Amino acid sequence: MIGVFDSGFGGLAVLREFFRVLPEYDYLYLGDNARIPYGTRSDTVVVQFTRQAVEYLFQQGCVLIILACHTASAKALRAIQQQYLPRHYPANRVLGVVIPTVEAALARSASGRIGVIGTEGTVASNSFKIELRKLDPRIQVFQQACPLLVPIIESGEQEGEVADLMLRKYLTPLTTQDIDTLILGCTHYSILKPKIQTYVAPQVQIICSGEVTAMKLVDYLRRHPEIESRLSRQGRRSYLTTDLTPRFQDLASLFMGQAIEAEVVQL
Ligand code: DGL
Repeated sequence: MIGVFDSGFGGLAVLREFFRVLPEYDYLYLGDNARIPYGTRSDTVVVQFTRQAVEYLFQQGCVLIILACHTASAKALRAIQQQYLPRHYPANRVLGVVIPTVEAALARSASGRIGVIGTEGTVASNSFKIELRKLDPRIQVFQQACPLLVPIIESGEQEGEVADLMLRKYLTPLTTQDIDTLILGCTHYSILKPKIQTYVAPQVQIICSGEVTAMKLVDYLRRHPEIESRLSRQGRRSYLTTDLTPRFQDLASLFMGQAIEAEVVQL
């Protein structure tokens, strides 16, 4: 199976893009709803939680895991790829959303002035900035942490005034920097894409990581037959969560576009 991990529901928006381009594979989604948010937590804790989730998904039979969570991709992916995998699961793979998103942003930016919005943790890790500059040292990166956007979306206020108020506050410092590309560096922000477009200049290209990661996954599977050949292809889709709250279905529908049936597990 292809495992997809997120701190909560937001990764369902990424998973949905995978279903669109690679519907034939079997997927197992895990949302760590009991411990969300990851965006405000220390590096040590994000690494620890993400490792537990990855371990769990491997034990369920996943051979390839995508960290849909940007905070986990930014803070934990390197440690997992460089230390944990070689020692414990050398034949398996864990990929994130940062590199595919960075590559897409570079391909689309003409001016080399790129904005990044994300959780506090993602922005503080400088992961997007570091990876952008690795590929092109001339790129100018303008980052903005948007800590209130996740709670606004999770409380169903994404269409309300408070969302507008906070988007204006967060995006103004970026728009004054004349960016031509904006990376939505968090699972949740694709929900706000139409609104975000109204706060930036019309020519600003908005990069949603779900879409670009799905395209890169197609390419990855083509280039890695040793992984692809181990994936089952019966179109099965299963969902695991570490907590099931009364709002679960509302939020699942918001990100997935439909209700889902999830099994509660403990990591
Ligand atoms: N999934 C997280 C991300 O993409 C957002 C929610 C959280 O803070 O855990 O960064």
